[in-house]
Amino acid sequence: MDSLIIRGGNRLGGTLTASGSKNAALPIMAATLLTPESCTLHRVPILRDTDTMVTLLSSLGAEVSRRDDKAMALQSSALHQLKAPYELVKTMRASILVLGPLLARYGRAEVSFPGGCAIGSRPVDLHIRVLEAMGAVVEVAEGYIIADAPTGLSGAEFTFDTVTVGGTENAVMAAVLATGTTVLRNVAQEPEIIDLLGFLQQMGAKIEGVGTDTLTIEGVASLSGASYHVMPDRIEVGTYLVAAAATGGRVRIEGVAPAALGVVRDALQQTGAVLSEGADWICLDMEGRRPQAVDIVTAPFPGFPTDMQAQFIALNTIAEGRSTVIETVFENRLMQAHEMKRMGAEIDIDGDTARITGRPALQGAPVMASDLRASASLVIAGLVASGETRIDRIYHIDRGYENIEGNLQCLGADIRRISA
Ligand code: UD1
Repeated sequence: MDSLIIRGGNRLGGTLTASGSKNAALPIMAATLLTPESCTLHRVPILRDTDTMVTLLSSLGAEVSRRDDKAMALQSSALHQLKAPYELVKTMRASILVLGPLLARYGRAEVSFPGGCAIGSRPVDLHIRVLEAMGAVVEVAEGYIIADAPTGLSGAEFTFDTVTVGGTENAVMAAVLATGTTVLRNVAQEPEIIDLLGFLQQMGAKIEGVGTDTLTIEGVASLSGASYHVMPDRIEVGTYLVAAAATGGRVRIEGVAPAALGVVRDALQQTGAVLSEGADWICLDMEGRRPQAVDIVTAPFPGFPTDMQAQFIALNTIAEGRSTVIETVFENRLMQAHEMKRMGAEIDIDGDTARITGRPALQGAPVMASDLRASASLVIAGLVASGETRIDRIYHIDRGYENIEGNLQCLGADIRRISA
């Protein structure tokens, strides 16, 4: 199993290009199941999770091939299997995103209960309830969600009682081929959802209310193939910007949609960093200073993204001042803080709240990654620690960050991967 070895203390500096968004690419790849025609996706990031989605779609009978330039061709003309098996789903929770498309196009789907990051119980009750509202009969047997709609799905009205990204995506992908009109209320509005809706519209789906909390979808009889550019990864971009801020450095990232960073930009400014941006680039300059601590409360978009919380805790551990970080989206998502304490961070955890007192520096230590974003935060902690940090179980980071050590090396970090 691979580990990352970091010798902290280097100030990051340089230019990177953003990767395509993992969380947009995964539902868009699943959405190609909705048409028998060929689709081409550009800027699909090369990650363990996108590879898992390729394996899953291929196991269903889709033809998927990657080209060198990160373009991917996908065609689901005739599937021979409507089942997402435990072996694949357990490694990637987003496998549940094939549920809606399979049910909509084939009238049946079997998906193992998802695994993924160990960040709380993460139920899928809303995915099931919205499909039931559209007429699906769903049973749970031997660890599988088995959904049937032999005569097709029907339009329905449904209000989500919790804002769910994956639940919204599954519901929309089911509704686009349902008979009649579906109205979904209290939907998630993350930029990755807007990206999925853009792809579906390009396939011929009729969707109104994009960018609001209510979507109205007029089902169509069939969808066509489409060619689409996946949006840049705002969480990857945010992670490198926080790493630059924490090390007092200066980083420019190209191929970015700065507006998608939303309140993360405000939080970075509160650290004292100087931000500048153009249509497709963003630059952060900390001018060699120590960052100021920032208070954070996570919330669904346009609130502060839970996927950036861990990185800001890492920054706060070495920032000037005290801070409070409250995680409201997932339970049990402050685990990385315990590892950072082993590096000398001063953090008190009380339920969903972390209270942090900034120290001038952390000390390198062996630590263990527990989930994807936690891993990224430990990398940032390693970059600001004195001495050597060894991060084990980095398979989590390979799920969501393309070539993280290569990118950080380009920015001047002393980081390398070793295989045990
Ligand atoms: C997606 C993202 C993940 C991000 C999260 C929140 C992908 C592949 N993953 O995850 O990176 O951290 O959004 O922005 O896009 N919930 C229920 N019932 C359900 C579904 C969800 O109660 O049926 C709850 C969850 O337990 C959680 C909250 O809703 O407390 C938000 O989860 P959700 O938005 O569904 O996250 P994911 O789609 O799994």
